[in-house]
Amino acid sequence: LPHVRPGRNSAPLGRSRPTLPVRHPEGHYEIHIGDGALKHVGSTLRANGAPFGSRVAVVSNPVVAPLYAAQVEASLRRAELAPFICQMPDGERHKTLATVALLYEQFLAGELDRRDTVLALGGGVTGDVAGYAAAAYMRGVRLAQVPTSLLAMVDSSVGGKTGVDLPQGKNLVGAFKQPALVMIDPQVLSTLPAEEFRSGMAELIKHGVIADAELFVELERAAGQTTGMADLIARSLRVKIEVVQEDPFEQGRRAVLNLGHTVGHALEPLSEFTLRHGEAVSIGMAAAARIAVELGKAEAGLPERIESVLSAWGLPARCPSFDADAILAAMTRDKKKQGRAVRWILPRAIGQVEIVADVTPSIVKGVLRNLGARGGA
Ligand SMILES: NC(=O)c1ccc[n+]([C@@H]2O[C@H](COP(=O)([O-])OP(=O)(O)OC[C@H]3O[C@@H](n4cnc5c(N)ncnc54)[C@H](O)[C@@H]3O)[C@@H](O)[C@H]2O)c1
Ligand SMILES: [Zn+2]
Repeated sequence: LPHVRPGRNSAPLGRSRPTLPVRHPEGHYEIHIGDGALKHVGSTLRANGAPFGSRVAVVSNPVVAPLYAAQVEASLRRAELAPFICQMPDGERHKTLATVALLYEQFLAGELDRRDTVLALGGGVTGDVAGYAAAAYMRGVRLAQVPTSLLAMVDSSVGGKTGVDLPQGKNLVGAFKQPALVMIDPQVLSTLPAEEFRSGMAELIKHGVIADAELFVELERAAGQTTGMADLIARSLRVKIEVVQEDPFEQGRRAVLNLGHTVGHALEPLSEFTLRHGEAVSIGMAAAARIAVELGKAEAGLPERIESVLSAWGLPARCPSFDADAILAAMTRDKKKQGRAVRWILPRAIGQVEIVADVTPSIVKGVLRNLGARGGA
C-alpha cells in the first residue's frame, strides 16, 4: 500500500475543515468535511457544477428527512437551486429495485432533467439506492452524496459503488457512479443511534489497521471520545481514497478493504443479523490478527492491541458461541458459488496488511475457538 500521509491540517482535533480531493477514471471530485457543512451544501454544489436555477432531488427517508432535510433545502435555495424532497422507506429491506422505481416516479413528478442533480441525504442504504437511481436516470445525472451515518461517511459514500439487493442476495445489481461532490457534517452524528455509530467505527478503525498507524494511535488515545470526529473521519477516508484511486473497478488491491469481512460476512447470517455489520467485522478483524500471529506473519502483541481499540470503541472482539465448522462452512459457501478460494486479509503490523490465499481450516478453527466459538478439535 502507498504511504498515507498525515493530514496537512494540524489544527486541534475537532476544529479543522479538511477538503479531500478524489481522482477517478472520469475525473475528480472533492469531499468536504466540517461541523456545519450542511449549511454550505448549496454553494458548494454550485461551485461543483450544478447550474444556476437547476433542480435538486433530495433523496431521504422518514428518519433522516425530519432531522436534516429542511437545513439542506434552505442551503440549496440560498444558492439559487430548486430543491424538492423525494422519500424512500428506511432500512436495508427497502434497498430494492422497487424503491428505485419509486424514486423515478418522484424524479419525473419533480421534472428532474439531465442537467439536474440527485442528492443522497442519509446512510449507506440511501446513498446506494439514490446513487444507482442517478446512474441510470436519463442515462445519468449529477450525484451529490451527503452521508449522515458514520459508515456512509467513512465507507459507502466514496469509491463509486452503488446498487440494490435482490431477493437472492445483497448488492447483486449496481453500477459504478462517481459523485460530483461529497459533503460530510459530523454534527449529524449526534442523532445517530449508538449501535449505528459503533458499526461505522469498525470500518473507521479498519482503515487505520490497513494503512495508517498514526490514525490507529489517535484511536487508542481518543478511546471512545466522540469529539474531534472530523479529523478521524478525514484520516480514515484518506485510506479508502488511496485504495480506490489505485483500483477503481475492484480488480485487485481494493480487496484489502475486506479486512475482517471474511469472518464477518459469515457471522452476520449465522447470528440471524442480530450482529450489526460492523460488530461482525470487528470480530473478524480480531480473528484475522490472531491468524496472522499463528502464521508467523505478525508479532504476538498485535491482536491484543487491535482488540483493545475495538473494545474501547464499544465493539466486540469475542466470537459468539457458534459452531466453528458452521462459521467455516458459511465462509466457503459464498466463495464456492463464485468459484474462488477464500482470500484472507491479514495484518502484519498496524498500518500494514497482506493478502493470503491458503490458510488451513485447522488454523482458522483454532483461532475461532480461542475467540469463543464452539466445536471439537
Ligand atoms: N457502496 C459502497 O461502497 C458500500 C460500502 C459499505 C456499505 N455499503 C452499504 O451501506 C449500507 C449500510 O449503511 P448504513 O450502515 O449507513 O445503514 P442505513 O443507511 O440503513 O443507516 C442506518 C440507520 O441510521 C439512520 N440514520 C442515518 N443517519 C442518521 C442520523 N444522522 N441520525 C439518525 N439516524 C440516522 C438510517 O435512516 C437507518 O435507520 C448497506 O446496504 C451496505 O451494503 C455500501
Ligand atoms: Zn464493511
